[in-house]
Amino acid sequence: MKTLTVGLGARAYEIHIGSGLLARLSDYLQPFLKRQRVLVVSDTTVSGLYRASVEKSLCAAGLEVGWVEVPAGEASKSYACFAQVCDQALAFGMERSDVIVALGGGVVGDLAGYVAASLLRGLDFVQVPTSLLAQVDSSVGGKTGINSPHGKNLIGAFHQPKAVVIDIDLLNTLSDRELRAGFAEVIKYGLIDQPDFYDWLEANFGRVLDRDPEALTQAIYRSCQAKAETVAADETEKGRRALLNLGHTFAHALEAEAGYDGRLLHGEAVAIGMVMAHDLSARLGLISDQDVARVQGFIAKTGLPTSPAFPSNSAPSVPRMILHMRKDKKASAGQMTFILSRALGQAFQSRDVPLDTLTQTLIAAGCPSD
Ligand code: GLY
Repeated sequence: MKTLTVGLGARAYEIHIGSGLLARLSDYLQPFLKRQRVLVVSDTTVSGLYRASVEKSLCAAGLEVGWVEVPAGEASKSYACFAQVCDQALAFGMERSDVIVALGGGVVGDLAGYVAASLLRGLDFVQVPTSLLAQVDSSVGGKTGINSPHGKNLIGAFHQPKAVVIDIDLLNTLSDRELRAGFAEVIKYGLIDQPDFYDWLEANFGRVLDRDPEALTQAIYRSCQAKAETVAADETEKGRRALLNLGHTFAHALEAEAGYDGRLLHGEAVAIGMVMAHDLSARLGLISDQDVARVQGFIAKTGLPTSPAFPSNSAPSVPRMILHMRKDKKASAGQMTFILSRALGQAFQSRDVPLDTLTQTLIAAGCPSD
């Protein structure tokens, strides 16, 4: 088992990474329990797989367990589900010193975390991520929230968990597609500022995607280490944390067009967005065409999509993409924000991308001009 610390002073917490951790979940919760009771928030898919064993092991450890299930999928990051989870938590008799456990992927972590941030003006919570995407990204760093009809993650709070418990065995029930989508966020850390990790991923991606425990642990550990350092340096995204949005300005626009119905997964959108961000960097004279080809070639080799025409075979138009990008919550005074690259593994933030260069990237990627 490996442990990392997110160094946030009095709010510092540990990330535990290993095999068989879910069976020992009560050990990881115990330090934070004032009463021997917890509320687990999960989704229907994860509950179907793990509810019986988790309830059994927590009850055997003497804990009273409440369980709230929301439908699997992005639609659960809604006002309605938020209200449902809050009301069920109150009906269970949650007090301020009680703990919420978020057992699920990114949707459950964001929703349960936001409930924890809001209920009784703030409860402790522990993240138990079950998807690769949640294990390497969303469970660490305290971003919690739900979606509004105006856009994704527009309602939310920074609320750090008390611990993150990453059991790599849970990835055995994840589909190949979901695993690959999470892998896009792993590649992202290499492209931001860890060229040695990027080289390692190019050499070892087959083992990771085959779920080799040693390779998976290494990929998750390096990703969480990068995330933990970034969050400790810039918790509320005033600077360095924004680099974690590599590919995301394009990705959020593609997701908004696709409609969050599961046809385009977040990680798939990030994969496409990272290729586009590198293309844009080359058009701005920052990196070579060979670097763009290397990134695109690697992402394609992993089985992830690289073109905005995925999944519908027709890419959104340039004006539609720009409309979404201007509405992104990282835009400021209507100026779009991009993470660009000076060289592979040297990402930086820019609000200074000429519209005609952006348009060239969009057209080259297959977006019709109107
Ligand atoms: N997922 C990006 C961040 O946590 O900042």
